Amino acid sequence: MVSLSSLPIAFRALFSSFLILIGVGYLMALSYMYLVVIEPHQQMGEGLVAGISDQYHGLPNGQTLIESALMGPMASHILVADRASILQWVHEGAKAGGYRQVAPIFAANCAICHMADAQSIPPLTSFEAVQRVSKTDTGTSISDLAKVSHILKSAEFSATFLRLVACARSRRATVR
Ligand code: HEC
Repeated sequence: MVSLSSLPIAFRALFSSFLILIGVGYLMALSYMYLVVIEPHQQMGEGLVAGISDQYHGLPNGQTLIESALMGPMASHILVADRASILQWVHEGAKAGGYRQVAPIFAANCAICHMADAQSIPPLTSFEAVQRVSKTDTGTSISDLAKVSHILKSAEFSATFLRLVACARSRRATVR
């Protein structure tokens, strides 16, 4: 059986650096999960598992993101009566027809932070934008997850492939 110690130094360096890269990637993923998922949910009083579950599985009982926000962290930004109007519209299916009645509530209470070009929070300035957070929340989509991990994986495998080619070339040079 081939063991790491019997391989030439270039291949040992190659495989070791691949393992180190994977290890660093794993630690980065854990810190990302802590900063982006766990900590913000803990600030809303949720436990570790509940936070991760909300993010990746979606809210329990088919809740919408807007309802959980309005009943939780966003409750202080809106009058109870206005909140009731929005929730009624959401429960009736968040249809385009009724948007005209609730649009001024979003404009007056939410748009100051949830601007059209908001990056880290959902914009709430148009029907399409509001509709996106008014659907049953099913967690981060597979395509969003794939986008991030795809980039990281491609970077890792191209780096390893290039190193493999470099190793093979340097070995050929020393053999000759
Ligand atoms: C003072 C600024 C501010 C105002 C006003 C505000 N929000 Fe937010 N909103 C935030 C921030 C910051 C976050 C992200 C952090 C968080 O989830 O607490 C957020 C998050 C959200 C989210 C997404 C939660 C998630 O988990 O992704 C929704 C939905 C939301 N707000 C709805 C509203 C609605 C509806 C209103 C108006 C009634 C409103 N917000 C008013 C700042 C604001």
